[in-house]
Amino acid sequence: MDDLYTKVLSAYERSSPVLAVVGLAIVLYHGLRWLGSAFTMFRAFVAPRFVGPVVNFKQMGEWAAITGATDGIGKCYAEQLAEKGMNIILLSRNPDKLKRVATEIEERFRVKTKIVPFNFTNPLQKYEALKTTLAGYDIGVLVNNVGISHPSLPLLYVKDQVIEDMIACNIRGAIQMTKFVLPGMVEKGRGVIINNASMLGTMPLPYLSTYSGTKACLDFFTRGLQNEFGQKGIIIQSLLPFWVITNMVPKDWKPTFFTPLADDYVRAALGTVGVLDRTTGYFPHTIQRWLFSKLSDYQHYMIMKKALEEARDKNVKDLENPNTQAPAFSNSVTKS
Ligand SMILES: *[C@@H]1O[C@H](CO)[C@@H](O)[C@H](O)[C@H]1NC(C)=O
Ligand SMILES: *[C@@H]1O[C@H](CO)[C@@H](O)[C@H](O)[C@H]1NC(C)=O
Repeated sequence: MDDLYTKVLSAYERSSPVLAVVGLAIVLYHGLRWLGSAFTMFRAFVAPRFVGPVVNFKQMGEWAAITGATDGIGKCYAEQLAEKGMNIILLSRNPDKLKRVATEIEERFRVKTKIVPFNFTNPLQKYEALKTTLAGYDIGVLVNNVGISHPSLPLLYVKDQVIEDMIACNIRGAIQMTKFVLPGMVEKGRGVIINNASMLGTMPLPYLSTYSGTKACLDFFTRGLQNEFGQKGIIIQSLLPFWVITNMVPKDWKPTFFTPLADDYVRAALGTVGVLDRTTGYFPHTIQRWLFSKLSDYQHYMIMKKALEEARDKNVKDLENPNTQAPAFSNSVTKS
């Protein structure tokens, strides 16, 4: 026994320089990786606050097209790109709102606007006319922001129409828009496409499974395209925001460290373009995403279920009670 101990010890002593080098290499590797990601975080989230985004959006083209442009995040993208001197194409379904927002942007930022009433939610909507409408414009930036969801509900309670609308809006709309603007971008060798995949597209969600499924689809679509077009000078970003104060969240929510106002969110997200291809767009959301990534599947589902079950029970009760008007269920919740 003693003999063995001495042997092991002397073997260790003889090999210790090798072990030390291996140890050092491992420490260096992880240290450098850590420094690398810290530097990337700095470039994406800190530096733009002082020196502005890496990408000069105006150089990408004359026009920025934004879907779901009349409310919330979409509207903030429209305003902030106009502030940078871009002309804005606003796409949304309500012509009156479109006119109002377009006039406001023209007056505030002295840029041109073009309004395109289009109902992405309608599965029967025809895209040929839209393609023709957009054809003449030098579109340098596309923000696929429009998206709809429904209140937390077991799938069997969700109306077929709502499912069709959601697929039409969250998936088909974004893919078609991307296809319309790409030829122009490829020709010029520059352009930015931002697809709102939402952090909820990276985590399966009970009672919102169709919604998170559509967003996961958009995330995969976007990442595939990055490989197809990334080498051609086109920036394609999969944006994974968590909660932002818009009309998609309950009215009584107040901004917090983790839940920013749409305007603050968009300012941060524009700073990440050209640095991060797949990002939450907002540093506190990146912290949340990191925390979620540390959970096991079991823990994840426990938390999600707890968070959504109360709402689900209320929604089911409303639905089964013929006396309550439950407008949320005849129509999907929408943000444009
Ligand atoms: C858009 O289409 C949806 C789904 O077909 C429909 O429910 C909604 O009323 C339409 N909205 C407008 C403004 O036309
Ligand atoms: C993206 O989707 C989220 C909900 O998943 C929504 O709150 C937000 O307004 C959308 N737009 C962008 C560009 O983040």
